[in-house]
Amino acid sequence: MNFSPNNDKTIKDFGEQWLRYNDTEGYFGSLELFSDILSPFLKPDEIKDCRVAEIGSGSGRIVNMLLEAGAKHVIAVEPSEAIKVLNRNIRKPEKVTCLKITGDQLPAYGNLDYIFSIGVLHHIPDPAPVVEAAFKALRPGGHFLIWLYGKEGNGLYLAFIIPLRLLTKRLPHFMLASFVEIMYWPLILYINLCHRYPLPLREYVLSVLGKMSPEKRRLIIHDQLNPSYAKYYTQLEAKKLLSDGKFVNIRIHHRHGYSWTVIGTKPS
Ligand SMILES: C[S@@+](CC[C@H](N)C(=O)[O-])C[C@H]1O[C@@H](n2cnc3c(N)ncnc32)[C@H](O)[C@@H]1O
Repeated sequence: MNFSPNNDKTIKDFGEQWLRYNDTEGYFGSLELFSDILSPFLKPDEIKDCRVAEIGSGSGRIVNMLLEAGAKHVIAVEPSEAIKVLNRNIRKPEKVTCLKITGDQLPAYGNLDYIFSIGVLHHIPDPAPVVEAAFKALRPGGHFLIWLYGKEGNGLYLAFIIPLRLLTKRLPHFMLASFVEIMYWPLILYINLCHRYPLPLREYVLSVLGKMSPEKRRLIIHDQLNPSYAKYYTQLEAKKLLSDGKFVNIRIHHRHGYSWTVIGTKPS
């Protein structure tokens, strides 16, 4: 497999992350969270009987959500060592094809109804070839839905996390795990404060993070501090990603005021 030179460390980082946080239980892997991720563009039941793919499947929570929503067949793309965890976690393996490839290598099936890429493209320095591969793999009229970190609405968080990541993305994984433990308690305090005060990211904290188990909150801290590359997209950049890839009817949603859900359609 050919990794792009500046994506290979990120892929390796994620492999280690998913070997450590290797289950998809609870709200983290629930259809309730999937509805939240798809909203306002899709409902899980619209995926019923569809042929779909997910680019960057990690430990497989989105694949299982797609299966629970009734997808006919799921192509799961995961380039890292997490493929082992993914294979273990999939609930209906007969309906899933797992591919250990990068997103740009997705075969040009040309017959998929939907492709999803949740929290992935912002970790790829040049995501255009992945968008192009998704375009080719969809049927005419098929849809590509992506979720990306946002820049707008994240000012205070970015002022904190960007300098911190300069250190944490270089830490060996056993040290990062200890660092996550240190950050866990201030996070709990912040969640409690959000219940009382209108603090930054309150909507996300109360409607998503607050519903996660302690282990999944640790995973989310790890996920923020770990990958070598992370980009925070402006609204314009997020839309351009799909419009440059020839998608039409592009719609964008500022999910919980801190991230972008973008959907585009392959012209018929
Ligand atoms: C934040 S995780 C998201 C996992 C999953 N989509 C979810 O929401 O639980 C990002 C995933 O993208 C994968 N990834 C990184 N670079 C990639 C690439 N070039 N092509 C496909 N996947 C990639 C990583 O290995 C990692 O598992």
